[in-house]
Amino acid sequence: MASEGPLTTYQSSFTLPALPSVPGTDPSSCVLDGFRIAIAQLLSESLGLTVEQAYAGVDYGKKGEDFTVALPRFRLPGKVDELAKKVIDKFTPNEYIESVVADKAFLHFRLNTTNMIRAVLTQVYELTHVVPATQQASSSSSSASPSKDSDSSSKPEGLYGKNTVGAGKRVIVEFSSPNIAKNFHVGHLRSTIIGAFLVNLYKACGWEVISMNYLGDWGTQFGLIASGYEQYGNQKDLEADAIKHLFDIYVQVNKDAEADPSVKEKAAAWFKRMEDGDEEALANWRIWRELSIRKYTEEYDRLNVAFDVYTGESEVGKASMDAALEKLEEMDLIEDSNGAKLINLTKHKLEKAVVRKKDGTSIYLTRDIGGAIERYEKYKFDKLIYVVSSQQDLHLAQFFKILELMGYEWAQPKNQALVHVNYGLVQGMSTRRGTVVFLNQIINEAASVMHEQMKSNEEKYNAVEDPEMTSREIGITGVKIQDMAAKRINNYTFNWDRMLSFEGDTGPYLQYAHVRLASLDRKNPHLLPLPAPSELQLDLLAAPHTSQQARDIAFLLGSYPDVVKTALKTHEPSGVVTFAFRLSHAISSAWDAVSVKSLGEEERDKAQARLFLYQSARDVLGSALRLLTIRPLERM
Ligand code: ARG
Repeated sequence: MASEGPLTTYQSSFTLPALPSVPGTDPSSCVLDGFRIAIAQLLSESLGLTVEQAYAGVDYGKKGEDFTVALPRFRLPGKVDELAKKVIDKFTPNEYIESVVADKAFLHFRLNTTNMIRAVLTQVYELTHVVPATQQASSSSSSASPSKDSDSSSKPEGLYGKNTVGAGKRVIVEFSSPNIAKNFHVGHLRSTIIGAFLVNLYKACGWEVISMNYLGDWGTQFGLIASGYEQYGNQKDLEADAIKHLFDIYVQVNKDAEADPSVKEKAAAWFKRMEDGDEEALANWRIWRELSIRKYTEEYDRLNVAFDVYTGESEVGKASMDAALEKLEEMDLIEDSNGAKLINLTKHKLEKAVVRKKDGTSIYLTRDIGGAIERYEKYKFDKLIYVVSSQQDLHLAQFFKILELMGYEWAQPKNQALVHVNYGLVQGMSTRRGTVVFLNQIINEAASVMHEQMKSNEEKYNAVEDPEMTSREIGITGVKIQDMAAKRINNYTFNWDRMLSFEGDTGPYLQYAHVRLASLDRKNPHLLPLPAPSELQLDLLAAPHTSQQARDIAFLLGSYPDVVKTALKTHEPSGVVTFAFRLSHAISSAWDAVSVKSLGEEERDKAQARLFLYQSARDVLGSALRLLTIRPLERM
């Protein structure tokens, strides 16, 4: 295991009694680790386990329980009720634990409410606002072009929720990867959304991240476009919108090819010239590629997505592919099939795959083999992630296997360096004008559907400062949340109405929850500035009646660092989305019971404590949304 130091040299201004240290935990970045260690300590003293063994058995509880331990998992001699009794007899309420209850084979632990609330809120505050981000152990990004912060009003991105498990390690996340001159389909959209999340996630966990777009910028289709361009192309349309113009030409020339087979032959001959490096055949292609990237960069920027590296199939060197094929021949893995070369992977249940065409031109699979080798040489990555649809499971498994057979250390499964993050299909992505073929159609449709919806409430609409920007951001949030709400592998149906509704678990609902929290400071200037956390009377939050709602919020906030760590293990954004919904629901249930505005001047201390709770909730909800690549809004 990597040596993961504490996140910072930071020491909370609120301290609780010293605890034994447990490897893999860090109370200075996840305060609930400390509470879990206290539970483990009690178990260890009463059951004769090591603290470490006991710690591994402390899980989040269900239905309102803080933490739960399933006793059978320790495989100790004796009946479970005897074991439970030993723990309960040993227990006295302390600074960490309020109560222990036995329930069949389980023990439920309730944390000391006042201390949990104070410890969590102090940590959220201090890691968000006090500890400078430069204290983070690793450089967070190698980004050559940090995308501009378009929501300058948003709060500073602090350290709360982050960790350093990836310190000193480098990951390449390859995602989006559309094909120039072809349509941007929903598979590319999902890759873009999930991939951008993974970039943020790895950065939040201390990894150095290189975000990479591997364009489909090579192949016979460019021969087709080249021949079509002579007839249908023009400079003006190309400069106005290269993506659209090239697509139109491609569609047109494909029609021609159906009617006249010689078009395909001409195209193949042209592509062969490109592969042979004929500058004349490459000149136009270079311009198309350049202009397409420029256009894509603008559209990604609207989605809050950026790439450190634009590469593509065209950039995989012939030499590395030839060397790979030679090596595979030597290893006797290649078969000849009518002049084409096949690799036989039937032994590995991965079928046979063509690695070189009859005319000697390269293909997709071979480019991926050469590409991975070149990436390793250039970046010496610790991990290389491909965010590609599950429709390409076989393709990915094939080239991972080929690299493994070739003997590369980094390609051996035990190292878990090559990772395919896959995802399911999406049905029904169309706009009111028809099928979607371009990314900007999706963005525009989301923005305009949202804009119309906002307009229907004229009074509210007129109060919005920048309705264009606001509706676009909410619309994009709707698209992203719908996409990330369930496990990646699930298929779903694209549904504009559902995803853009303010009701139910949707993106607009999350933005609304954030806006509502953000409005509290504006509505309560008389309570600001708040005293330092140590001066606030936070025990008032635990006062009768309001205790449960305030407690629920605080506990959820405390769990956020674990949500981030779990996401890193599973590569699932859905856990973070679920967290954002749970937190938003907890806030909305607290809104009346734990209200700020209902308190008069004589209850100023209580009002300030409550405001502090909501500020903490806003900071953490904002972080979760940013982790999901969403720009949290301050107003709507
Ligand atoms: N451009 C490909 C497509 O649209 C996706 C590329 C995925 N990445 C890779 N290394 N094969 O299907």
